[in-house]
Amino acid sequence: MSDLSQKPVEDLTEDEARAELEGLAKSIAAADIAYHQNDAPEITDAEYDALRQRNKAIEEAFPDLVRADSPTGVVGAAPAEGFAKVRHAVPMLSLAKAYTDEDVVDFIARGRRFFERDKDLDIAFTAEPKIDGLSASLRYENGVFVQGATRGDGAVGEDITANLRTIKDIPHKLSGSGWPEVIEIRGEVYMTYAEFQALKERSAAAGGQDYVNPRNTAAGSLRQKDPTITASRNLRFFAYAWGFASEEPAPTQYEAVQKFAEWGFQISPLMVRATNADELIAHYRTIEAQRASLGYDIDGVVYKVDQLELQRRWGFVTGEPRWAIAHKFPAERATTVVRGIDIQVGRTGTLAPVARLDPVSVGGVTVVNVTLHNEDYIAGKDSNGLPIREGKDIRIGDSVVIQRAGDVIPQIVDVLVEKRPADAVPYEMPHSCPVCGSPATREINEKTGKEDSRRRCTGELICPAQAVESLKHFASRGALDIEGLGAENIELFFSTGLVKTAADIFTLKDRRADVQRVMAEKREEQARARELASGKTRKNVRSVEDRNYQGLDKLFAAIDARREPELDRFIFALGIHHIGETTAAVLARTFGTMEELMRVGKETAAAEDPTTVFPSVDGIGGTVIDALVDFFGNERNDEVLDALLAEVHPKPYVVTISADSVVAGKTIVFTGSLEKMTRSEAKAMAERLGAKVAGSVSAKTDILVAGPGAGSKLKTAQEHGVEVISEDEWFERIGR
Ligand code: IVH
Repeated sequence: MSDLSQKPVEDLTEDEARAELEGLAKSIAAADIAYHQNDAPEITDAEYDALRQRNKAIEEAFPDLVRADSPTGVVGAAPAEGFAKVRHAVPMLSLAKAYTDEDVVDFIARGRRFFERDKDLDIAFTAEPKIDGLSASLRYENGVFVQGATRGDGAVGEDITANLRTIKDIPHKLSGSGWPEVIEIRGEVYMTYAEFQALKERSAAAGGQDYVNPRNTAAGSLRQKDPTITASRNLRFFAYAWGFASEEPAPTQYEAVQKFAEWGFQISPLMVRATNADELIAHYRTIEAQRASLGYDIDGVVYKVDQLELQRRWGFVTGEPRWAIAHKFPAERATTVVRGIDIQVGRTGTLAPVARLDPVSVGGVTVVNVTLHNEDYIAGKDSNGLPIREGKDIRIGDSVVIQRAGDVIPQIVDVLVEKRPADAVPYEMPHSCPVCGSPATREINEKTGKEDSRRRCTGELICPAQAVESLKHFASRGALDIEGLGAENIELFFSTGLVKTAADIFTLKDRRADVQRVMAEKREEQARARELASGKTRKNVRSVEDRNYQGLDKLFAAIDARREPELDRFIFALGIHHIGETTAAVLARTFGTMEELMRVGKETAAAEDPTTVFPSVDGIGGTVIDALVDFFGNERNDEVLDALLAEVHPKPYVVTISADSVVAGKTIVFTGSLEKMTRSEAKAMAERLGAKVAGSVSAKTDILVAGPGAGSKLKTAQEHGVEVISEDEWFERIGR
């Protein structure tokens, strides 16, 4: 962003004004592109408004200098290259804003004045949450979803039909009846906090990118070239308006939206009708009170005139309806001081910096710490020194502005540089793990060639922080799946020293008395805590020895039942960085036994050039090989693994190709969003049946299994005359 000149507009010479207008046009265009096309705002809304205001003021003072590409009057940015353009049959508008109760009273008063002559007119209004996501327009013809587009600049958006089709809240066919022949349903695509958190965690475990907030993540998810990625993000959709309609859906806004629900859409459960400012404001307060528990971001309440007849009469100003207004929530913000930066270590060793703050109340909640994401975010620039989105130069001692939107994780939105202590220095992430002391490094992303923004502890299983999280992973559903050994028991066994590594799980039975004691003490402690909380004392306190420990026998039996796991599960259970279920299965197939994988892993680690030792395997790239080298090259992991293999004997991988299956020997491609199986299940299933699974379609492909949202692969298949079947047909064919 060009620094805003402080010189009063009236003091500018013509040359200065011309130069400034040129700079402002560039900065505003860049900010528009960053916000609307790349979903990666680089400056704050306030900074953006300041640029526009300055531009407008100069243009007013120097009307002859107004540029052909003046940003005034242009909202947003033209669509990004890549998606086809869609001209909206009816433009997608924005909303005027109200910030105070008085603004709302004024809005109603304007309406009453406008309809003054209609003495008996009762204007009604609707009030509903303003969802903080991305608006989309969905065209239905004869009840069938035919095209979906982004808002774009309001007049022209982008065709993201394939991506929108993957959203479960968007019906492919309308249900019920009475829908117009053609209707564009409009609403908001958004991501829930739960989904956002889950994605962040998945991505961290797989060494993928970091995500900062749900809105930008939803935006990025919608712009994927590959709809299966969009599908994996579990986006949601609320319908709240419509564009072109061959017939009016209902006489009022409220009834129209109720119809959308009958046709299969999600509508906000918080939409009400009201008749005056007091009622609207009361509903605003109700929604505000529920904001933190909704599970997704909202940033205000939208009021709309209910009667469509009155909407038409009241009409529009440039780009905005007169008959609607968005009553924004005040940003819940507070200023506090960063007292320190703590480092938390996750299962895969990610060092997560967390700012320790002077406790501060933000929107009724006391905030004592806030995530700083990663070291690039703290530095405000990446490892090449280039500024990054949403990053700030944050130092210990800095005064910072904290914002909480709903119950979304609090964030630092501003650093008050003018209050920075003179001795504050840029923060430096530790280069060794604060828990175990192993080196903490940043990996290079193979695809982008860039350094990962996160630093990781390389200690793997010997790091206590990683160890306890790894143990949870080891016993979890997709891994060894040990029933009864959940997070709580693992934490208990780990903290009491009963289980230090995975091998110890299998010897717990030999230490039955200790396990019994630890569990009894824990129960006793919980009971006491309950007593203290309730003020009641227990009547029959049985002695620890009296208790019935059937549960323990069950747990030991469940552990024993997993002493001979499938090799792929075992490899996955080890929690080696970058090795998810799919890669673990490839490794199991390739090496057949754990011993062989270990042998090759160690040899590769010892070699100067890993590629001379490690065989070239489809689906195993440099990142995975590096991770294996790190793991098997770490002597401290040897001990742990040896002890584990003394207890657990993974079954050698035997290829069971059913030569008689109808798909044996065929090359299959899966595309689109699969609804009954995950991509890796589909692959494993096909391979078990003797088929080869390929990632892309060619003339050699025999069958394309296409789920909803299939895009370019479907086209290619059709061009090559490849047989295309649905997921259901696939199951039929293989006889399930
Ligand atoms: S109505 C003609 N209702 O806010 C009115 N918009 O500032 C069109 N938004 O682009 C919009 N929740 O992305 C409407 N309940 C709601 C909304 C909503 C979120 C967004 C929408 C629009 C922007 C306008």
